[in-house]
Amino acid sequence: MRHFLECHRLFVATPPAAALRSIRRAYFSTSASSLKLDGGVSLVQGASRGIGLEFVKQLLEKNDKGHVVATCRNPDGATGLLELKTKFTERLSILQLDLTVETTIEASAKSITERYGFLNLLINASGILSIPNVLQPETTLSKVEKSSLMLAYEINAVGPTLVIKHMWPLLKAGGGSGTERDVAVVASLSARVGSIGDNRLGGWHSYRSSKAALNQLTKTVSVEFGRKKDPVICILLHPGTVDTDLSRPFQRNVPEGKLFTKEFSVQKLLNIINNVKSHDNGKFFAWDGQEIPW
Ligand SMILES: NC(=O)c1ccc[n+]([C@@H]2O[C@H](COP(=O)([O-])OP(=O)(O)OC[C@H]3O[C@@H](n4cnc5c(N)ncnc54)[C@H](OP(=O)(O)O)[C@@H]3O)[C@@H](O)[C@H]2O)c1
Repeated sequence: MRHFLECHRLFVATPPAAALRSIRRAYFSTSASSLKLDGGVSLVQGASRGIGLEFVKQLLEKNDKGHVVATCRNPDGATGLLELKTKFTERLSILQLDLTVETTIEASAKSITERYGFLNLLINASGILSIPNVLQPETTLSKVEKSSLMLAYEINAVGPTLVIKHMWPLLKAGGGSGTERDVAVVASLSARVGSIGDNRLGGWHSYRSSKAALNQLTKTVSVEFGRKKDPVICILLHPGTVDTDLSRPFQRNVPEGKLFTKEFSVQKLLNIINNVKSHDNGKFFAWDGQEIPW
């Protein structure tokens, strides 16, 4: 409150433009945490394993000043994240977030507000394709179940959108991963099979349609973001077919050389994220930077 009053006094005592500069100077010179946060703050949601965990690793390794908040359903069981925490004790925070429980999304936003006050980059890296005895990618309409459609939709489309909603007030321009990026970025992991225009094979009704829903929700959010004074760029990313738990049961038919490592895919995706421009807002990119049709 005292800080606000000091800024407010500066504002009323000086002409508007100079006052704004003074407020900015006052804020950045008096905030101890801003000195420690030169490298920005990134949030990776769905960070326990797979592509999300690799994003956390590369964000920490490539930007030696950047802070990363990693969220997952069960922090105590997230061994990969806990290992990273021993190496990057100060720069990595781990928070509990389950996409199906909105209060955990709100609680994470509150923790980030209290600890950092802002975010420069939000990556939604979670997703489900199959869960043994619960969800199997459908090969025919006769195998489509209401419960599978609803579950895929809840985790792949609804959850990431609620994360964007609750983190939105925190999103601020800045170098979230050690780059010259001067805009805040939201990147959600989609999948090429979510493209309606590209659907030639059929099948995987739940997964495909949930990713198509994620694409439409994200595109809709991007239009609203684009209208704001300090726009946030919102993109969708297809990581390629990547060697993770998600793709493992389906890797048999992947052509030689087309199964990527997590390291390779995330390197490519970070390259896209770090180079996005305002005109990229609302686009759906593959790992190689090519746009994917809706
Ligand atoms: N791998 C590929 O070939 C491929 C291809 C195209 C698109 N993608 C997309 O890329 C993203 C990452 O996939 P991946 O290969 O890294 O998958 P993965 O290794 O199976 O990891 C999935 C992540 O999602 C999390 N998750 C699942 N349900 C959740 C929930 N209710 N709340 C919060 N987190 C939840 C998991 O957490 P738990 O550990 O708690 O389960 C895990 O961290 C997904 O959106 C996927 O659709 C992947």
